[in-house]
This record gives sequence, C-alpha cells and structure tokens, in this order.
Amino acid sequence: MKISTSILSCEDRIKAVLELNRTRSSYIHIDVMDGKFVDNVQFHDFFEIKKINDVSKRRLDIHLMVDNPQKYVEKINDMNIEFITFHVEVEKDIDKIIKSIHDKGYKVGLAIKPETDIKVLEKYLDAIDLILLMSVEPGYGGQKFIESTVDKISNVKRLVGDRNILIEVDGGINDKTICKVSDVDIAVVGSFIINSDDYAKRVEYLFENVD
Ligand code: DX5
Ligand code: ZN
Repeated sequence: MKISTSILSCEDRIKAVLELNRTRSSYIHIDVMDGKFVDNVQFHDFFEIKKINDVSKRRLDIHLMVDNPQKYVEKINDMNIEFITFHVEVEKDIDKIIKSIHDKGYKVGLAIKPETDIKVLEKYLDAIDLILLMSVEPGYGGQKFIESTVDKISNVKRLVGDRNILIEVDGGINDKTICKVSDVDIAVVGSFIINSDDYAKRVEYLFENVD
C-alpha cells in the first residue's frame, strides 16, 4: 500500500509539503473544491498548486471535487502529477474528460461518493487507471470513516476483475482504520498525519498497522 497525504487542513501547506518530502508518503493529495460540487472552496486557484508542485519531491495526486472538471483540467500544465481524479457524479461528458486528462499525459481516476452505486463505474472501466472510493462525504477533512466502505472495496475489486486499475480510499483513515482498508493500493490520509508534530512518525505508524 502507498500513502497519499492530504494537505487540505494544513495551516501552512508549503511547510507541510517540505516536511512530507522527508517521509514515506508517496504522493501529495490535493483536494480541489469549487463551492458547487461541495460547499467548501479550496485550491481552486492553481497558483497555490504550482507553488506546492515547485517544492514537492513527491508526485501530486489531484482530487477534483468540482462540477466542471474539464475547466480545471485545461488549466493544468507542466506539473509533476501522477493522477487527476474527478467524480463520476458530475453531470458532464465523462468520456471526454477522461480523454483530455490522458491527452495531457496523466493517469485518470474516477471518484465515487459513499452513497453512489458502484455500477455507474462499469462503463468507464476500460478507460481509467484508478478508482477513488470516498470513505467520508466529500467536502471536509477530519470526518469519521464510514464503515460500509469495507464492503464497497470488496465489491469494487470484484467489478474491476483483472483490469489494471488501482483502488484508492479517501477519508477518515488513521492508525485505527487503516487495517480495514489494507487491501487498497493507495490510502489518502489527512488529519492523522497533518495534526501532529512528526509527520514521518505518523506515516510509519500507518505502515505498522497495516498487516
Ligand atoms: C475530503 C477529502 C479528503 C480529506 C482527507 O473531502 O477528499 O482528501 O482531506 O482528510 P482526513 O484524513 O482528515 O479525512
Ligand atoms: Zn480527497
């Protein structure tokens, strides 16, 4: 399993990224929120993401919680990004957005909210690289892990079959809940790492508690 650290709830995000450079967190998870898809507004200005990209030694894992992902994808250039993930719930041409992310050379993720049926992912499975299962309602850090995510992970794995698609889980992951999601490829962790004086130690706790 890899760790992707969400810096959403940090007071000083640049300082946080500099510290994360010294941990075994594989990615920096960037939660972009437009105040429409979710009622919070975060990172909508790419200037901040560029600054983070400039100091980060880790690739970025972009999670778009926005109504119009295409508009944001068009603004993304020249950054060390591994994944751009957007929500399957957006009422837009999903195939077109997938293509535009791939055309930029990035891997594509589709995110799904806790209440959404995984069947909606089915028709995109041959076009995507990652599925992000939300284990809290999108919008805010520091929420409690939703237990039904555990079954959802098994069901998504069955749906994916032998396709080469990574599974990522996002929300409420800490040293107590990480063992419940031990079979995913990437765990997004925010407050458990960020609300501490020693990020590296917190990342190591996570690895110790997963199997
Ligand atoms: C929630 C975000 C998450 C969140 C994770 O909308 O997508 O990435 O920041 O933070 P924690 O680990 O605090 O739930
Ligand atoms: Zn996220």
